Amino acid sequence: MASSTSTNTWVKSQILPLSSSTRSNNSANRRRTNYITCSLQVQTPSLVRIPQHTNTTPTYQAPTTINPIPKIKTPKDHSSKNTNSLPNQQWNLLQRAAAAALDAAETALVARERRHPLPKTADPRVQIAGNFAPVPEQPVQHSLPVTGKIPNCIEGVYVRNGANPHYEPVAGHHFFDGDGMVHAVKFNDGAASYACRFTETKRLVQERALGRPVFPKAIGELHGHSGIARLLLFYARGLFGLVDASHGMGVANAGLVYFNRHLLAMSEDDLPYHVRVTPTGDLKTVDRFDFNGQLKSAMIAHPKLDPVSGELFALSYDVIKKPYLKYFKFSTDGKKSDDVEIPIDQPTMMHDFAITENFVVIPDQQVVFKLPEMIRGGSPVVFDKNKTSRFGVLEKNAKGEKDIKWIEAPDCFCFHLWNAWEEPESDEIVVIGSCMTPADSIFNECEESLKSVLSEIRLNLKTGKSTRRPIITDSEQVNLEAGMVNRNRLGRKTRFAYLALAEPWPKVSGFAKVDLFTGQVTKYLYGDQRFGGEPLFLPRDSDINSSSEEDDGYILAFVHDEKEWKSQLQIINAMNMKLEASIDLPSRVPYGFHGTFISSKDLEKQM
Ligand SMILES: [Fe+2]
Repeated sequence: MASSTSTNTWVKSQILPLSSSTRSNNSANRRRTNYITCSLQVQTPSLVRIPQHTNTTPTYQAPTTINPIPKIKTPKDHSSKNTNSLPNQQWNLLQRAAAAALDAAETALVARERRHPLPKTADPRVQIAGNFAPVPEQPVQHSLPVTGKIPNCIEGVYVRNGANPHYEPVAGHHFFDGDGMVHAVKFNDGAASYACRFTETKRLVQERALGRPVFPKAIGELHGHSGIARLLLFYARGLFGLVDASHGMGVANAGLVYFNRHLLAMSEDDLPYHVRVTPTGDLKTVDRFDFNGQLKSAMIAHPKLDPVSGELFALSYDVIKKPYLKYFKFSTDGKKSDDVEIPIDQPTMMHDFAITENFVVIPDQQVVFKLPEMIRGGSPVVFDKNKTSRFGVLEKNAKGEKDIKWIEAPDCFCFHLWNAWEEPESDEIVVIGSCMTPADSIFNECEESLKSVLSEIRLNLKTGKSTRRPIITDSEQVNLEAGMVNRNRLGRKTRFAYLALAEPWPKVSGFAKVDLFTGQVTKYLYGDQRFGGEPLFLPRDSDINSSSEEDDGYILAFVHDEKEWKSQLQIINAMNMKLEASIDLPSRVPYGFHGTFISSKDLEKQM
């Protein structure tokens, strides 16, 4: 394996735009370039070239080009406890010989891959263009400029997860493949601070020690024969002790939950990571978190916290071996239940699920994993047109799967489910989700543009039948993805959902407050060339027994201005949809995934 001359490779930099219209600007940027010195990249030029960050305001570039990326610094204070790396200085002769041979094989593989165009879903020049490009860590900065007034009730920290590749991709890369980075805005007495930090996953710590990426990228790289070759290379490196996958390979970049005094960063391919918010508002990775030895398998990034019982509910899915799906829960003090193995015929993507007061609702849909497809040259994530989508309804306290009730919902694919509740008078479970078509468009290139239709799905427990209807009328129809209901009412009947306007997608132009009963849509648009991601709804009153109105609270959203190249956190009153305050952030916040809010009271009890 190539030795590292720097632990700071691509991240010293900005990616140059590739469009002809921006080439003249780029030549100036190139003169400031501080190029990667990793030996692999010396042998195989990177897909994108990365000059050093400057403080000048970059011009807006088309989404298919790659915008400047600033230098990412190696954190100084995160490597003490969480190291699992195998320093190459300690390799023996055999290991060094194996590393050299495997490096040569990888170089040949990359050269071969470069002869063929990458699909858009694996092309880093598309996937991490513009404000999807990564940023360096930002130590906490206090007393940020605020326009307007931060509402008094907002005390605590808003944290949001996202993908932020530490190293420049040398081959395929999907937006979802990046290393997890948490962005934190802490509120104290009307003032705000900001920090962002990588989550120090076992893979990132090892890659940083080696000075280059070595772990396979689940979506961007693992397709076709090249994907098989990459898996074999990784397996061989493991055999020679050059990398260690025994403590997980996850990126912890998707979800965040605060449970039992722990903030957990999650991706569905691994255990969670425990991240601590420091008293100053900075972030520190504690370690990979197995709930004190109780959790032995990966956990999805959308566990559900019941606002009444305080229990946490979760799924785990496996793409290789049976059982392909397990359900479990944690009591308020973190005690895990036994796994409930749920028999399904084939490994299936289960990104999200829902809870009601008494049940969990599990989507078994048509996006499945078929590893043999790689042998045929394709992606292992496929849409199975012969499968019928269905929802499984299981009692939350079930000890086994025998009482699960499966109800078919043909042609339904919801990547996320926003809420569900019981309507005993009609023996129905109501599920609110965005039905996405084409179902696998996030993972596989397709011509058809994405549709994401907010829908009400009714599962009749008596008849075993389902119905589905769009909540918004045809004339008002708009693509909605990423968002939530009032978390104090999760699993109970809710009137409002706050969802990102997924036009364009995956960056979003604003959010909508949707009346789920009437279909009325109230939009909040970020404005010309301003985009964001998931809106977070924060109830004014954190007491779940409060008699306050369901929509009495605030929307928090990171917004990026692509003209000014600046980011803000905006706070919008959810009742009247008016901007209350905007906080200028000291550095760019890339478009990302999911977030949560931890109140100052909860922070005081944090582990
Ligand atoms: Fe998600």
